[in-house]
Amino acid sequence: MPLKNTNIVSAAQTKFGKLEGVTQREMFSEAVDKATIEAGIPKKDIQAAFIGSFIPEMLIHQGHSAPLLTDFAGLKGIPATRHEAACASGATALRAGVMAIESGMYDTVLVAGVEKMTSSTTPEVTEALAAAADDQFESSIGLTFPGVFAIAAVAHMNKYGTTEEDMARVAVKAHKNASTNPLAHFQKPITLEQALKPLVIAWPLKIFDCSPISDGAAALVLTSNEKTKQYTDLPVKIIGSGQASDSMNLCDRTDLTTFSASVDASRAAYKMAGLTAKDMDFAIVHDCFSIAEIIASEDIGFFEPGKGAKALRDGVTALDGDRPINPMGGLKAVGHPVGATGVKQVVVAYRELIGDAGPNQVPNHDTAVVHNFGGTGATCVITVMRRGDV
Ligand SMILES: CC(C)(COP(=O)(O)OP(=O)(O)OC[C@H]1O[C@@H](n2cnc3c(N)ncnc32)[C@H](O)[C@@H]1OP(=O)(O)O)[C@@H](O)C(=O)NCCC(=O)NCCS
Repeated sequence: MPLKNTNIVSAAQTKFGKLEGVTQREMFSEAVDKATIEAGIPKKDIQAAFIGSFIPEMLIHQGHSAPLLTDFAGLKGIPATRHEAACASGATALRAGVMAIESGMYDTVLVAGVEKMTSSTTPEVTEALAAAADDQFESSIGLTFPGVFAIAAVAHMNKYGTTEEDMARVAVKAHKNASTNPLAHFQKPITLEQALKPLVIAWPLKIFDCSPISDGAAALVLTSNEKTKQYTDLPVKIIGSGQASDSMNLCDRTDLTTFSASVDASRAAYKMAGLTAKDMDFAIVHDCFSIAEIIASEDIGFFEPGKGAKALRDGVTALDGDRPINPMGGLKAVGHPVGATGVKQVVVAYRELIGDAGPNQVPNHDTAVVHNFGGTGATCVITVMRRGDV
């Protein structure tokens, strides 16, 4: 049965990037202000907050951040909980918010995500991010996230003939789409030659195959049907939500060219929505590395296994293609402040669905699927959204 009662009535994000001198709480507060007072929603209407944030203990020595963040953002006193699922922290916070509305417990809630990363060095961030892998069998022997996705890339190259040039095309598309997105970390288009420059991070992945280390925050306000018309004539409904998990350890997987949690979570979300992948007008997927977009486009059912790279080459996933993917630039070019990403992806889908994406507007925009995963896909959350009626 499709979810029936959860509406997104406002959505906002800060600029993503190296936000020097801006603290975690300031970014969070900015996103919350944009999603509440600037959208005509009084803060006193927010009954609870669900917040995605991955590694503030390691990056800024701050735990127990939910009450700290809500207090700083002028939401003191409400129930505030942090959700952690590596890079899927934002989407797990969203699921908690959806369940809170669907259960009837609350009418109006805040879902937000935030991460401050650039005050740490790249080696410090790399080590902190490695906590999302299996420490006993992977991180402690030196496997990093670029390394993990390089393994997946090699497996995909061997099984399906995917090439380094195919992966570079993901980066070229991402940077092109982000060039008209003023909130993106990188706003300059790149050429295929630039993307293929041998600045190797973990072969076959080069610098442009990687999402950057970024700061940023994003926020959404969810309401029940009854409350929705108080705030907007143009809500977006969340009609399907799926979550699945997989082994943390790559050694326990039988196929590294697909992430089973993405397949399982998308099946569950489409089933709940009563729709299929064919009904989706566009997708927002977790392109933490270029190969991850190609694999995700197959795992969510947009293309057959092994056909994602061809679809990309043929322009099918371009902004003006038949099945646009990441029309505003994805993690690759917009940035990846890990705890904020899952919420920001939904902010992007919301803006596309209500027709507020400016030069990045996709032509067909009734229904969308959002794919957010954590670690090497050990957690995946899929959200199906539809432009709604009040
Ligand atoms: C790829 C990576 C190692 C590069 O870090 P770095 O070598 O320390 O790079 P720096 O921050 O010193 O930046 C050097 C230059 O490259 C650019 N740059 C950095 N990362 C970039 C990226 N991913 N894509 C494009 N350009 C990038 C910077 O803007 C800077 O450009 P400038 O000299 O014009 O200012 C780092 O971005 C990284 O670890 N990314 C992956 C993050 C990750 O694993 N996330 C979780 C996914 S599951």
